[in-house]
Parts: sequence; C-alpha cells; structure tokens
Amino acid sequence: MKYKRVLLKLSGESLMGDKKFGIDNARLTKYAEQIKEITDLGVELGIVIGGGNIFRGVQAEEGGMDRTHGDYMGMLATMINAMALQSALETAGIDSRLLSAIEMKEIAEPYVRRRAVRHLEKGRVVIFGAGTGNPYFTTDSAASLRAIEINADVIIKGTRVDGVYTKDPEQDPNAEKYDTISFDDVYANGLNVMDMTAFTLCKENDLPIVVFNINTEGNLKRIIMGESVGTIVA
Ligand code: GTP
Repeated sequence: MKYKRVLLKLSGESLMGDKKFGIDNARLTKYAEQIKEITDLGVELGIVIGGGNIFRGVQAEEGGMDRTHGDYMGMLATMINAMALQSALETAGIDSRLLSAIEMKEIAEPYVRRRAVRHLEKGRVVIFGAGTGNPYFTTDSAASLRAIEINADVIIKGTRVDGVYTKDPEQDPNAEKYDTISFDDVYANGLNVMDMTAFTLCKENDLPIVVFNINTEGNLKRIIMGESVGTIVA
C-alpha cells in the first residue's frame, strides 16, 4: 500500500451523474463501492465533498446575492451531500462519522481535530462537512486544510477527467496528460489543479495531490496500491 491515511476530495457535481441537478443515488452507490475497496485494505480515509450540484456561492453573487450569504448556503449544500454520502457508506457496510465545520449538533458531530483523528484510528471514514466553515474558501481549500490537520499522506482529488493536462482536455483534443508534475510547473504553466489558496496550502506543507477520474471503477484502489493512475502533483 502506497498511502495509509488519505483525504479524498469529491466535487458536488460528481454526485449528479448524468442528472442536471442534485444527487444520483446510483452514482453514490458506485463511489461507496470504490471506497469500500480501500477501507477493506485498512486505509484511513477522510472525505471532503463539495456542494456545487446544489448551490454555488460564486454564481449566487453573480445573480446579485451577497457573497458571504451565498457561501454559507453553499456550505449547507455540502452538508446535504455529506449526509447522502454517509447513508451510501452505511448501506455498503462502511463505518463512518460526519463532522461539521458549522455546529449543527442534531445532525452531525462538531468538527474537532483530535476527535477526527481518533475516528480515523478506529477505522471509521470521516466525512468533513460544511467546508472550512468560512465564506470565501472553497471545498478544495477545506480538503487541503483537513488533509494537513489529520496528517494525511496525500489528497486524492476525484474528477471527471483522467488527470492534469497541458490544456483543457474537454476543449482541446491535442491536450496531453502529465503523469507527474511539480508544484512549480503547475504555477509556471498556469494549470488549474485546485484554486490557488488550496493549492498553495498543499505546496507549503509538502502534501502531494493526485488528480484522477473517479468514474473509472477500481481507480481509487489502484492509486492506493501505487499504480500510475491520474496525475501526481508533488
Ligand atoms: P467513540 O467515542 O470512539 O466510542 O466514538 P463514537 O462516535 O462511536 O461514540 P459517540 O458515543 O461519541 O457517538 C455515537 C454516535 O453519535 C455516532 O454515530 C456519532 O457520530 C454520533 N454523535 C456523537 N456526537 C454527536 C453530536 O454532537 N451530534 C450528532 N448529531 N451526533 C453525534
């Protein structure tokens, strides 16, 4: 096993599957199956999930809403996704705990770092909900922050594309994939791996990032076993 403690970042959009909005339960079940493959190996797993399939603070601002207000709504959207994911994990027989950065104790434990680490040590998947709990920070930043806090070996970012490309592969058919790339080269080439706040946090704390296609079954386990899947930024 290449990685023992892992932070998995899932986008909210990834939960939509082929739908235009909301949550595709079949897709969630597939993710839970992939997650089971790695927790069965003894991987300690934290998960941060976005909320863009339900609500986006940035877009709400474009529509005239106060950004801070919109961001808090986005954080609530991540909690909806987190609860759906927890339910899918439970159905798959995976023990999990949901910790929220914004206190809502009737539905989730409050986020306490030491508690999160203890849950991981006991083999529970820890889902970190409500982003960082602050406006102006993305869930990528939440993923970087939580990964550093729990001393994760790596952030694994599940996307719809196979990794980091020279150009946007959905727009340019000549785009080529990097197997590995340095943090400096990501900056130098203006590549979009995460937003800059999230990315810089990883760089400054020597936390490698793996970008991979979560919709290819078995990929998550391949990464954990050290196979060359996606792109490693280190
Ligand atoms: P240990 O302390 O290691 O035994 O962990 P545990 O999570 O099994 O024990 P605990 O008794 O703290 O929690 C039992 C259940 O209640 C778990 O599903 C927790 O996620 C949940 N839980 C614990 N604290 C809270 C809380 O403040 N709010 C909510 N909604 N659930 C909580």
